[in-house]
Amino acid sequence: MRIAMIGTGYVGLVSGTCFSQFGIDVTCVDLDENKISRLKNGEVPIYEPGLEQMVHENAAAGRLKFTTSLAEGVSDVDAVFIAVGTPTRHGDGHADLSYVYAAAEEIAKHITGYTVIVDKSTVPVGTARQVADIIRKTNPDADFDVVSNPEFLREGAAISDFTKPDRVVIGAETERAKQCMERLYQPIVANRVPLMITGLETAELIKYASNAFLAVKIGFVNELADLCEKVGGDIMDVAQGMGLDARIGSRFLQPGPGYGGSCFPKDTLALMRTGQECGAPVRIVEAVVDSNDRRKKSMADRVVAACDGSVEGKTVAILGFTFKAETDDMRDSPALDIVPALQKQGARIKGFDPKGMEEAAKLLDDVEWQDDAYAAMEDADVAVILTEWNIFRQLDRSRVRDSMARPVVVDLRNLYDPEQISAAGITYHSVGR
Ligand code: UDX
Repeated sequence: MRIAMIGTGYVGLVSGTCFSQFGIDVTCVDLDENKISRLKNGEVPIYEPGLEQMVHENAAAGRLKFTTSLAEGVSDVDAVFIAVGTPTRHGDGHADLSYVYAAAEEIAKHITGYTVIVDKSTVPVGTARQVADIIRKTNPDADFDVVSNPEFLREGAAISDFTKPDRVVIGAETERAKQCMERLYQPIVANRVPLMITGLETAELIKYASNAFLAVKIGFVNELADLCEKVGGDIMDVAQGMGLDARIGSRFLQPGPGYGGSCFPKDTLALMRTGQECGAPVRIVEAVVDSNDRRKKSMADRVVAACDGSVEGKTVAILGFTFKAETDDMRDSPALDIVPALQKQGARIKGFDPKGMEEAAKLLDDVEWQDDAYAAMEDADVAVILTEWNIFRQLDRSRVRDSMARPVVVDLRNLYDPEQISAAGITYHSVGR
């Protein structure tokens, strides 16, 4: 089979590469010439474990190609995936669909023969039908179907999420389109992965509903963590006790500084707007959007409190800037709230992140970047663990205690056992316990 992947961002590049790993002939198309020439030279512009190696292998085998020419990429293929960005539109919180619609118009001009057009980008309900309208208007002779095929890829685990997903969801309304998608996903489904075929709107909603529900789980556990702090409970045990109920499940109950990333903040907002506009408000999602915003903004207060009420003139070591571990992605990271808030109150910031410093330096001013966690903590008045990188789980406690000006750690990811770290002479603050 042959497919084209429009957009070589996170989703497009991972999906295209994984399809090629299954022996499908994939052409990745992007307008960004610099990105395409880097990819042609085997340079992968994002950090995702295992991806670079897979790109090299499949490009060498001739199954994975890169081009800036959409016309070249989409002619004579079985399916064209639209995997372009759908950022939050300024002003109203809706997903900005201009890239999706522009791609649809271009695709319409260049497809040859029956082609399945697949919405892979996360798009609001109704988009698949709009894409179909655009294609029909642009090229009334085009022989095509539009399908919705949402992705459920976590950054840092995207390859295994693609190859061994919990489910594959396909919104398709014609037999031809269903068969094409079933063939494409056959190698994955053969591994006993459930494949759900639904209507277009349902598939689009499954994606938003899933991400919003996970966001609600996190928001819920974060608010309960605050309650634990007031009443003397331990959120880790509360979450474990809840999670052991199979109806709740133990995953996504880890308290922290608030969720970030390219999906949860954007998708919760977009679902909230769609609900409001359709007269079916999803109030639980409205609440979690508000709760998470407040949480991210309030994290700096914890650091100030740990510094006896003021960070003026104090040195704060920030360990981890990305929105989660195993990625270099800074989008909507809690660091973007906490660092400027501390700087505004007069703190000097020293920072380290294993993969994210280059991105973080583009978004944050006046951070003194260091080569490792220990260098960041040297002479600091407080160290803040913001991202759960494994390398921060095994810090040498005596070294930390001896090298800091004041051995105070604010751990917003609960990486340490409070008793053990306190026994090492470190004043330790964590979340919800
Ligand atoms: C998410 C979804 O998981 C994925 O299915 C979807 O398609 C894209 O969005 P991603 O944004 O890569 O993936 O990261 P994820 O691991 O889901 O984490 C999102 C945010 O929630 C991060 O900021 C993370 O730190 C936070 N989180 C996650 C918690 O605070 N607690 C948890 O228990 C889990």
